[in-house]
Amino acid sequence: MPVIEVERLNVWMQAGDGRIIHAVKNANLSLGNGGQLAIIGESGSGKSTLLMALLGLLPPNASVSGRVVVNGVDVLEGPEAALAGLRWREVAMVFQASSNPLSPVHMIGQQLTRLLVFHGFDPKRAKARMRELLDMVRLPTACEQLYPHQLSGGMRQRVVIAFALACRPKILLADEPTTALDPIVQAEIIELILALRQSLDLALVLVSHDLALVGRMQGDLAVMLAGEIVEYGPVNQLMTKPTHEHLRTLLAALPDFGLVEEPA
Ligand SMILES: Nc1ncnc2c1ncn2[C@@H]1O[C@H](COP(=O)(O)OP(=O)(O)O)[C@@H](O)[C@H]1O
Ligand SMILES: [Mg+2]
Repeated sequence: MPVIEVERLNVWMQAGDGRIIHAVKNANLSLGNGGQLAIIGESGSGKSTLLMALLGLLPPNASVSGRVVVNGVDVLEGPEAALAGLRWREVAMVFQASSNPLSPVHMIGQQLTRLLVFHGFDPKRAKARMRELLDMVRLPTACEQLYPHQLSGGMRQRVVIAFALACRPKILLADEPTTALDPIVQAEIIELILALRQSLDLALVLVSHDLALVGRMQGDLAVMLAGEIVEYGPVNQLMTKPTHEHLRTLLAALPDFGLVEEPA
């Protein structure tokens, strides 16, 4: 049974000037337990709006139609209590590096322990779990005694991933988790996310505007353009045989993926 099912999802946003923007157009997606889906598309193509719809976190100026079922919960129709049980416990989200949720005035270990206690962890066990989480994201134990500003951008993003995994979610949504990081660090963070997906058997939705970063993933790829999913299928198949002009253009811009033109 899929853990994420999106059927004919439409999202309209009312802009400040009264214009209506059709941010997501008739989207259909499905992701199985432990599966992985990369979503790519240029800025403004509707990627974040689609992810927010999965968590039932669309802003008040949004109107929506269609069906979104996540881990058995009808996100658009279901009661708020069911949604609250879903968020962070079953589905966690990592946002882009520049918008990290860390408090500047508390040490990393303290913040993570506090989060665990907030989510119902026994305070005596929370510290051990905090260390386990830092270890999972491959940060040295010494980091627990540091403040966010004492970490590099990549290390901070590892902490953010540790936060997301605190409640042992089944599904991880990552919205451009490496934007604003150096290229080498970007690749390391993606590699970490993919390794964690495998070891924790997470279902993963990874959003990026960078095809070079996600083009080597397993699983499915959805390409968004102006709110529409214009291409959707197994990554390896689409990377070699794109059907839509937009993906062909994106691929042509990647030095490593130079498309071999098939004879007409
Ligand atoms: N809160 C909002 N209010 C009004 N318009 C929005 C809001 N969020 C996004 N949009 C619009 O919806 C479209 C899709 O945006 P978004 O989902 O953020 O794209 P992406 O994540 O692919 O860059 C854009 O035209 C954007 O301007
Ligand atoms: Mg976005």
